[in-house]
Amino acid sequence: MSAVRIAVDGPAGAGKGAVCRAVAQRFQMPYLDTGSIYRAVGLLSIRSGQLDPEKLARAAQVMDYLFKDMGDGSFGAFLGGENVTTELRQEATGERASQVAAMPQVREALLAFQRTYGAGGHRILDGRDVGTVVWPDADLKIFLTASLEERANRRALELQAKGEAVSVQQICDRMAERDARDSGRDHAPMISAADAVVVDTTHLTLEESIEQVVRLVEPLVGG
Ligand code: C5P
Repeated sequence: MSAVRIAVDGPAGAGKGAVCRAVAQRFQMPYLDTGSIYRAVGLLSIRSGQLDPEKLARAAQVMDYLFKDMGDGSFGAFLGGENVTTELRQEATGERASQVAAMPQVREALLAFQRTYGAGGHRILDGRDVGTVVWPDADLKIFLTASLEERANRRALELQAKGEAVSVQQICDRMAERDARDSGRDHAPMISAADAVVVDTTHLTLEESIEQVVRLVEPLVGG
């Protein structure tokens, strides 16, 4: 069976990460959260105070980044050997990631890493432009989405579970802003590929979302 490439795109909070982790585990294939690479560049930008696109693109090209299956159902992010998993998930890093992701030079610098990730076997990537730019010829393209209100609610519950007091309205506003920046940018905007299967998770539980995607993947990779 030839190596199958699965592209999962969509906005923040639609469930891409959880769904992809489950699919990767179930079918034993490498998974890369491409948003985490943009977050890693965002972190480099925050730490160095650098916002020059050329300099950030060079830093992105040589950065030693590892997205690692920790063996307990979670994935860890390592930059130059340092575990930056928690730092990458912070709001400030996400905001900076969205800014650096709008720089064509940075996107270009990160393409080869994404395209060759896990080469040789089945693999799954999630992000905003995997099915349109990274792998326009992916074997399966999924656009996973949900309403803005539902996505903001999920994020609020996640933060509340961590003991952070948050206002759903504030999250909603920030998400809308980030969606607009990701969808409105000139270079590799977040859009569903014409040949993507749209999965709307607004009224689905996480288990149901996983089940829908598994049903699409299974025929390609076998049980
Ligand atoms: O998915 P996540 O929220 O972690 O991604 C952080 C940011 O990285 C997004 O807001 C988006 O601007 C950017 N991104 C991107 N292309 C991807 C993945 C993420 O532009 N393939």
